[in-house]
Amino acid sequence: MNEFTHKGKNKKEFVKYIFNDISTTYDFLNHFLSLGIDIIWRKKFIKSLGFSKDDKVLDVATGTGDVAFAIKKKYKSEIIGLDLSINMLDIAKKKSKKMNAEDIVFMEGDAENLPFDDNAFNKLVISYGLRNLGDCKKGLEEFYRVLKPNSKIGILEFLHPKSTIISKLFKFYFNNILPRVASLFSNSKAYRYLPESVENFMTPNELKILLEEVGFKNVSCNNLTFGITTIVNAEK
Ligand SMILES: C[S@@+](CC[C@H](N)C(=O)[O-])C[C@H]1O[C@@H](n2cnc3c(N)ncnc32)[C@H](O)[C@@H]1O
Repeated sequence: MNEFTHKGKNKKEFVKYIFNDISTTYDFLNHFLSLGIDIIWRKKFIKSLGFSKDDKVLDVATGTGDVAFAIKKKYKSEIIGLDLSINMLDIAKKKSKKMNAEDIVFMEGDAENLPFDDNAFNKLVISYGLRNLGDCKKGLEEFYRVLKPNSKIGILEFLHPKSTIISKLFKFYFNNILPRVASLFSNSKAYRYLPESVENFMTPNELKILLEEVGFKNVSCNNLTFGITTIVNAEK
């Protein structure tokens, strides 16, 4: 039995509310609750897409901007970070000053209705954002629209892992330990929503089929850390 809504307009409003609510503890809890592994996952994710200085990149659901900062630091690409939650963007903007990355544009916007022309970007990344959209297919259609032909999309996400001992242990941690530890630092519902949102999301194969339905080709899924998290790459 679900506590939260996992589709549609109500979900979008709720997601916006919780990320605005947890923005100040988001980075700390990410690294703390994942024992820092999330930093390695993001690095591998970025490497999988092979950026260059000439790339025009859209980081959808950028949050506090960690993926955008990592791309900028290593590859100096032109980047726009877009997010629904203004408080997450405020943290990203503050961080950009400290990191000498003030040329990254952080803007408010909805992944399901992107404020860009067709064929505007040659890379699009979304890290732990897709699962949070109200309408995932609508989001993917928008990503396809704003990407140039032959350009790449990268998705980093918690997808339903295959049932193994490690994935069962992880599920136990995610469902029982993580929300309790997080509640010591934040009274937000966000950390109860997180495991439930993964339970209600797609398997790698289901996401592959959806990407192909939208028009993407050469879809590949690469499981990290026993399938706890997955990098999905595809081309327009
Ligand atoms: C788990 S955070 C991920 C942030 C960042 N990409 C990272 O890797 O840490 C999910 C983000 O998705 C954003 N988000 C959710 N739905 C969105 C939508 N429809 N459009 C844009 N951003 C959205 C939230 O506001 C939140 O900042």
